[in-house]
Amino acid sequence: MKLCASSPFSIVLFGASGHLARLKIYPALYTLFATGRLPKHFAIVGFSRSDMNDEAFRALVAEAIRQNEPEPDEGGINAFIAHCFYQQGQYDEAASFAAMRGQLQQIEQKWSSVIRLAYFSVPPAVFAPIAQNLCKSGVHETGVPFRCIVEKPVGHDSRSFREMKETLLSCFMEEEIFLLDHYMGKEAVRNTYYLRYANPVLERLFKHTLIRSVEITAAEQNGIEQRAGYFENTGTFRDMFQSHLLMVMSLLTMRIGEESGGLRAGRMQALEALYLPPATSMDDIVLQGQYGAGSIRKEHVRGYCEEDGVAADSRTNTFAAMRIMSRASHWAGVPFFLRSGKRLQKKETRISILFQEPHKIGKDSKPNCLHIILQGEAGIRLELQTKMGGTEPCFRPLILSDPLVCMGDCLPEHGLLLLEAIHGKQQWFASFEEIQIAWRLIDPVQKHLERDETPLHTYPAGSNGPDALDAWIAQDGVAWMEI
Ligand code: BG6
Repeated sequence: MKLCASSPFSIVLFGASGHLARLKIYPALYTLFATGRLPKHFAIVGFSRSDMNDEAFRALVAEAIRQNEPEPDEGGINAFIAHCFYQQGQYDEAASFAAMRGQLQQIEQKWSSVIRLAYFSVPPAVFAPIAQNLCKSGVHETGVPFRCIVEKPVGHDSRSFREMKETLLSCFMEEEIFLLDHYMGKEAVRNTYYLRYANPVLERLFKHTLIRSVEITAAEQNGIEQRAGYFENTGTFRDMFQSHLLMVMSLLTMRIGEESGGLRAGRMQALEALYLPPATSMDDIVLQGQYGAGSIRKEHVRGYCEEDGVAADSRTNTFAAMRIMSRASHWAGVPFFLRSGKRLQKKETRISILFQEPHKIGKDSKPNCLHIILQGEAGIRLELQTKMGGTEPCFRPLILSDPLVCMGDCLPEHGLLLLEAIHGKQQWFASFEEIQIAWRLIDPVQKHLERDETPLHTYPAGSNGPDALDAWIAQDGVAWMEI
């Protein structure tokens, strides 16, 4: 049965003219609308500092949908934008929130019931005034079901995360807070868990006695788009590892089934079991890089330091790789290599598992690998060996591969997560504990990356990352698995 929102709702979107709202949130809401998943009564109230009226806001939403929808339908877009309203204001100004409350009451007056959502698609620095003003103004009011959706990053480090958690919990109940990591709304990412759950045979294979190493890669072709302001203060390591990559790793290593205590508890235990392996230098744990000029799809692209809004001598990383291990008994001793970068050769998110080679098999043999490709050409690919004909034991690869295309009731990640938030389902949203554990792991590594002495390797845009990457992984006696 398809998941729908049946009760009337209003969603207040903070950061209404921002990049994320235009790229993901409006198109996702439109998809929900166009596929008949939204109720007759709903409203999207954009809130931001930009000076706009309803009409200009509707034009912005319509344009965002046209640019990001493969087959935009003008009739559908016009019907959708009739549900959009705008409230200009300052995040720290009580009067702007009082005006918004008035607007919401007017919109909702003929509805039989309402669920209110506040979506924080803004930098963490303004979370606190928004949360406080939502409460003071009565937008968050007793008796009206409320969801506060907070887009990652939740904090900048452990300390700012704790402060943010305190502020949010002083304004809302924990059940009202939805910490959104959009990777957890991706069907293929969720499938990492379900593939294990539905295939006990894989669980038999996912054991430290059989596995040599695991890679989790999130490669992007895009650069920083128009996000220099955010990215200069963040970098790829903080942007991708603390959230998306550790979440994927927790889904791969968590216990499954009854004994996990549910998805959130299982992920949290998996995160708690992670640790940085002992090393003589932090440079053995983490490697960082930054893209220089190069070419992508045969087009010249600028280096990171030449991007608009980036300092010419910026040391912000756009690539990082990290070694990490798990104390969970199944994974004991298995090195995990996580890597992510911008302006790489291709867009691909994948888990690659390299199996042990218990004995030398024969000429041209290669160890078995299992690749679960989550983005790019999503699919699953098992690399086996088969004997070539002849008297000698010579081998050639035997590859079993199948695309992982979504064949059911598929939705864009933000659409699926929004629907689940409307229904109050939190299992695919991160808990405060998960985020706290992730920051605890990331903080010391991030500190090391920020030191002037820590190497920052450059790589040409369109490549596979810094050259130093090969020697770095070779310390464990393995090489990167390329497909
Ligand atoms: C976001 C990061 O969370 O994820 C971006 O802030 C990154 O920098 C993006 O580009 C990647 O998401 P996806 O869905 O394109 O893999």
